[in-house]
Amino acid sequence: MPSLEKARIISNSKQYHNLYIMEIEAPQTAKECKPGQFLHIFTSTGLDPLLRRPLSLYDVDKEAARISLLYKVVGKGTALLAAMSPGEYLDIMGPLGHGFSLPESARKCLLVGGGVGMAPLLYLARVLRQGGNELLALYGVGTEKELLALERLEAIGSQVQIATIDGSCGLEGPLIPQLFSEILNAKRIEFIYSCGPESMMKLWQEWARLNRIPGEISLEEYMACGVGACLGCARKLKPENETYAKICKDGPVFSLDELVL
Ligand SMILES: Cc1cc2nc3c(=O)[nH]c(=O)nc-3n(C[C@H](O)[C@H](O)[C@H](O)COP(=O)(O)OP(=O)(O)OC[C@H]3O[C@@H](n4cnc5c(N)ncnc54)[C@H](O)[C@@H]3O)c2cc1C
Ligand code: FES
Repeated sequence: MPSLEKARIISNSKQYHNLYIMEIEAPQTAKECKPGQFLHIFTSTGLDPLLRRPLSLYDVDKEAARISLLYKVVGKGTALLAAMSPGEYLDIMGPLGHGFSLPESARKCLLVGGGVGMAPLLYLARVLRQGGNELLALYGVGTEKELLALERLEAIGSQVQIATIDGSCGLEGPLIPQLFSEILNAKRIEFIYSCGPESMMKLWQEWARLNRIPGEISLEEYMACGVGACLGCARKLKPENETYAKICKDGPVFSLDELVL
């Protein structure tokens, strides 16, 4: 059940350029969290911005009642978030949305995360490893310093392959299937999870279809209420289908078959 909570900020620090990690203590919310869900956050105590901002559950420690958020400062809301200090309280609603499905028996999973798209995949990786799944994470960023989730992914026990646009780490180039064809051919991937720019996820959707691999992706959309009440995030999943899905409630995670990117 989602709840409204004033979460105490434990830490909030700039990692590189406009990328931040915040850790909050949220006893009510943390115990309900599932991978792929998100928090809807008031970044201001005033009227600007008026609406909450959605951020994925980057990591969750249920025993310590702590949730980590990995976020990029792109506008007013995230800039206000970046200015908050440990000890202050954050008004959160969550966990919200339909998250990733988890396999009943262990399988070989591929995680494909582009930039801050790795945010919802890290907690997923943690839960998948607890279930004994074998993980290969493909992590694409602009430059090495943006690889914020790398240490945690490796500590969880995921194999990680990297692509950087500037070639500063791993393979040089965008996070596309062709760049990893040798590695992928050697693995018998059984399920793919992805989050990142839609143009990137579209290529992975095509790759998955070609190789008959099922999977899920997490979508981003502008949100208002966050709970399915305002239609602010409605989106047609397939051009030929007249029904609209609410990204906040029916998603943000969808099966690869459910949508055309
Ligand atoms: C379910 C969900 C989970 C998300 N998780 C994360 C996360 O873990 N880390 C993270 O950094 N970001 C995440 N985002 C995106 C984040 O919510 C937005 O970047 C944030 O709301 C921007 O708020 P702002 O006030 O700083 O920027 P605004 O002033 O609202 O916008 C600044 C710029 O960002 C663009 N923008 C804002 N929101 C979106 C959006 N939803 N989709 C596309 N473009 C947008 C605007 O067009 C504008 O150019 C998530 C979004 C969704 C829907
Ligand atoms: S944001 Fe209101 S219905 Fe999704």
